[in-house]
Amino acid sequence: MNELLAKIASKTATVAVVGLGYVGLPTVRAFHDAGFRVIGFDIDQTKIDKLRRGEAYLKHLGTDWVRALAGSSRFQPTSAPADLAAADAIILCVPTPLGEHREPDLSFVEKSTEMVASTLRRGQLIILTSTSYPGTTRGVCKPILDRRGLACGTDYFLAFSPEREDPGRPGVQTRTIPRLVGGVDEPSARVAEALLAAAVERVIPVDSAEIAESAKLLENIYRAVNIALVNELKPVLAAMGIDIWKVIDAAATKPFGFQPFYPGPGLGGHCIPIDPFYLTWRAREFGHVTRFIELAGEINSRMPHQVVDAVARALDESGKTVKGASVLVIGLAYKPDIDDIRESPAAEIITLLAGMGARIAYHDPHIPRFPRMRKYQHDLCSVDLTQQNIAAADCVVIVTNHSGVDYVLLGEHARLIVDTRNAMSAVKNPRARIVRA
Ligand SMILES: NC(=O)c1ccc[n+]([C@@H]2O[C@H](COP(=O)([O-])OP(=O)(O)OC[C@H]3O[C@@H](n4cnc5c(N)ncnc54)[C@H](O)[C@@H]3O)[C@@H](O)[C@H]2O)c1
Repeated sequence: MNELLAKIASKTATVAVVGLGYVGLPTVRAFHDAGFRVIGFDIDQTKIDKLRRGEAYLKHLGTDWVRALAGSSRFQPTSAPADLAAADAIILCVPTPLGEHREPDLSFVEKSTEMVASTLRRGQLIILTSTSYPGTTRGVCKPILDRRGLACGTDYFLAFSPEREDPGRPGVQTRTIPRLVGGVDEPSARVAEALLAAAVERVIPVDSAEIAESAKLLENIYRAVNIALVNELKPVLAAMGIDIWKVIDAAATKPFGFQPFYPGPGLGGHCIPIDPFYLTWRAREFGHVTRFIELAGEINSRMPHQVVDAVARALDESGKTVKGASVLVIGLAYKPDIDDIRESPAAEIITLLAGMGARIAYHDPHIPRFPRMRKYQHDLCSVDLTQQNIAAADCVVIVTNHSGVDYVLLGEHARLIVDTRNAMSAVKNPRARIVRA
């Protein structure tokens, strides 16, 4: 342990990051910026090739630093598992999706841990960052690593440290977001804390890996439940003629005991729609039912249907039907100013409207082409936001309020706008009919 602590303190430790996506790539950056030699490993060869060429594949992270990284002698992108043997610390940032029946799919965690186990050696530290149910690090990763015949806590070290990355949020990055860490034993906790503290400004050690795993789930369940609450209140207040966004802004003036959450077209991304159900699944094993999580999931997953109902009603009031109407969807990404469409409600809304016979076009400055998705297939490319394209639509639906969209132009030339994000509130006297949904 002392040898590893000394290597961390002198920044001579080599850090490997396994899984170079939305979480892994910023982790590479944080450790490289901190002065460590970094190995970036991914099974996706196209990502490795791009990193070698200095090409950014996650636009929200910027491009210059990826170019600089490619030229750095301290960065080695690789898809060869044998290269991980050289690492003193290995940080796993692989996906944790849900299976077809909404059960945790830990296959990525298991496979990457097996790969790490195949070259595990004395003095290595493994940190899992992928969000999962409490008990994953100790109950899933540790038995795989233990098969190598080394003892955890003396020969090798194992900890969980959840990532709180929020892609596209300005002003925060891996280095500045406070970081929790919990070990499966005391020595593991100590070395993991030391490593993270070398790259992150504030590291908060907690008593166990399970506390760190549960804290991450609590954070995301808190968001899912509160978003469901405002999504439930939206039609209730609308029926009373009350603007929910004004209500939330009013309540948010209370300096304690209230945090604002805003309604929308439904949840998206790799975290909030998925992570809460990891706890639901695990709770069942202990004979418990997570009613809040289930209810929030039910309300939030209904939202795209509510938006489509609102579009149908609004078209009806203009003497039109969804069948045959041309609908221009603004924003495919699940949140503003990023290019991530995973679990995006826009995909569901487009699919529902197309299924009812609408002719769909979309505009998203960050997503030029509708990507291939397991559940949704649409042969669509982003159209320019011109007067003609706007005026040609029977209905414009704002699903994601990207900051690069010209809302004044929309208000000027659209006939009807169904706004799920309150994006049109800043536009003075729009000519278009605005319907909140
Ligand atoms: N995206 C976020 O904002 C965010 C925030 C906090 C936590 N998380 C959690 O972090 C984890 C990773 O999420 P992400 O958004 O970075 O996923 P991602 O899909 O963007 O990236 C995962 C990467 O892992 C690679 N990969 C898959 N299997 C692998 C294997 N066996 N070995 C090596 N690489 C492998 C994939 O090719 C991909 O590049 C998830 O558990 C997620 O819940 C995500």
